[in-house]
Formats: sequence, C-alpha cells, structure tokens
Amino acid sequence: MSRTIMITGATGTVSTLLMNALREAEVNLRVLVRDESRAGALREQGAEVFVGDLGDPRSLTPAFDGVQDVWLLPPNGPRAPENSMNVLWAARRAGAERVVRLSAVGSAYDAPTRSGRLHALSDAELERCGMRWTILRPHWFMQNLLNEAGDVAATGTFSLNVSQARVGMIDARDIAECAARVLLDDPDRHHGRTYTLTGPRSVTFDEVAGHLSEALGRKVTYLPVSDDAKRKTLLGHGVPEWIADMLEEYAQAYVTGWGDFTTDAVAGLLGRPPRDVADFVRDHAAAFTPDA
Ligand SMILES: NC(=O)c1ccc[n+]([C@@H]2O[C@H](COP(=O)([O-])OP(=O)(O)OC[C@H]3O[C@@H](n4cnc5c(N)ncnc54)[C@H](OP(=O)(O)O)[C@@H]3O)[C@@H](O)[C@H]2O)c1
Repeated sequence: MSRTIMITGATGTVSTLLMNALREAEVNLRVLVRDESRAGALREQGAEVFVGDLGDPRSLTPAFDGVQDVWLLPPNGPRAPENSMNVLWAARRAGAERVVRLSAVGSAYDAPTRSGRLHALSDAELERCGMRWTILRPHWFMQNLLNEAGDVAATGTFSLNVSQARVGMIDARDIAECAARVLLDDPDRHHGRTYTLTGPRSVTFDEVAGHLSEALGRKVTYLPVSDDAKRKTLLGHGVPEWIADMLEEYAQAYVTGWGDFTTDAVAGLLGRPPRDVADFVRDHAAAFTPDA
C-alpha cells in the first residue's frame, strides 16, 4: 500500500518544490494549509488538503490521522519551536513512523543568529521524538535572490548588507530533491542523520551579479549597503521586525566568513552535483527582466 506523506508549509518555497519532486512518486500526498482559499491549486495537483494551523494543535489532529511520513517545515519566527513541537505531538499521536525536518545552516545552541538557536531546540527535540527522523540543514537559498528581482529589473542593481562575504548558497530545488530522496527511501536508511546541504561553491554577490549580467545580457551591479540601510528598506516593504532582525544577524555572520563553506551532502544524496548559481539565474532570468 502507498505511504501517505504530510507536507507542511505547503504554499511556501521549499514545500512547493518538494511536491513537484514527488509528483511521479507512488505516494499519497497530504498537505496542510492554514487558509482554505489556498487549497484549490493543491487539490488540482492531486493532494488531499487539510486546513490547520501549526500554532493550534487541536487543528492538527485530524490532518495527521493515517500519515506515515511527515515533512516538517517550520515557518520563520519566534514561535518556530512551538510550531515544530505541535507537529511532533500530532505525528506521534497519529502513529506516524518518520519525520524529515527542514532546519537551517549552522543550527546550534551557540549559533550567531537567534533563528539558528531556535532551530537547534527543535532539532534536539526531534532527535528524541521516538519516531525515525532526519534533519536537513540547508545553506542560504538562491531563491532569496528573487527578492532582489524587482530592483535588478528596474535599476540593474541590487543591495545587500553582506559586504564581500562568500556564501555556499543552494538552489531550493536541490533541497526539495534531497527531501524527496529521503522521504522515498526506506525509513531506516536516513534515520538519525543530519545533512548540511549547500551549493557546489561559495560565491560573493559580485560574482552573482556577474552571472546575472551574463544571463540577462545587460550589466547588473551588486551594491553593498549598511545594516541600517538594509533594515530601513526591509521595514519599508512591510517585513516584520523579527524577520528584519533575523536577516541582519545572518548578514553579520556571513560578513565574518561564517557561511563560506560547502559540503558534498547533495551529491551524496542525489548522485549528481548541486545546481550552480549560474544555473539558477539562467533558469530564473525572466523574473529579473523588466515587465516580468
Ligand atoms: N531562506 C533561506 O535562505 C533559508 C536557509 C536555511 C533555512 N531556512 C529555513 O527555511 C524555512 C522556511 O522555508 P520556506 O522559505 O520554504 O518557507 P516560506 O516560503 O516562508 O513558507 C512558509 C510556509 O509555512 C506556512 N505557515 C506559516 N505559518 C504557519 C502556521 N502558523 N501554520 C501553518 N502553516 C504556516 C506558510 O503558509 P501561508 O501560505 O499561509 O503563509 C507557508 O506555506 C525556515 O524554517 C527557515 O529558517 C531558510
């Protein structure tokens, strides 16, 4: 009988790509959304949709009934450990066998970001949850570059507060494919494993601008800005203060060289190298183009 996989964060970046990666697989896809109006497109993809909120454990109980495998994607925010715990609670009560959790690069009790420290709390809880478990700790998503697409299209520039930092950034499509690999393999195969997922090389944002210039056929320039300038821009766009703080903490860590590394975990799981940022900008060139 096909296994049933619960996908949390189903409308977000990584989980959307994960559902693409699982499309041909012989599994039953069940998804959790907190807003019924987002359910239609997911139903069209053949998923069984449940409405629930990770902050409301009572809403999760019916959604997890009959689930064997759980993809746990905690949203960013100070309540991430509570959200993660509620999923483990519902999964355990429903008799689920395995949880695969999206964590973050450098998750640790002494991480330089509060997000990394919160992820560490939930990673530790998962390790003692009594179900089979796997943790994925991805590096900076190349998809974050899409936040700069409007500026690139309009002005040919983009601004970040990371100076000349090198970052082993990863394409979220590779994160999703690694998650799919783990979820489709036998539950014992990756039990107890933590994979730090990165791209193939560590790059500066000047190098990213060079790849954008090549892909778009026009000059794109990276403009380093101060923490204060970036924060003002983010808050001006309505980004919540906690998220602006979090992004600043990561930026400050990257400037120290904290993100300047890669691993071979993606190649180990997928049997091929991870996508390069040059591949990413070529595949997403339309988003960086005026009128996109
Ligand atoms: N961006 C990076 O560079 C990076 C790097 C490493 C790790 N990470 C980690 O990746 C995770 C974020 O992944 P992502 O970017 O794919 O997520 P995302 O695009 O921000 O999507 C978040 C998802 O969670 C859902 N959600 C939010 N609050 C919820 C709640 N209370 N109940 C139920 N669902 C809720 C959202 O639903 P709605 O549609 O209803 O909002 C959405 O589907 C975070 O844990 C972050 O720390 C990010």
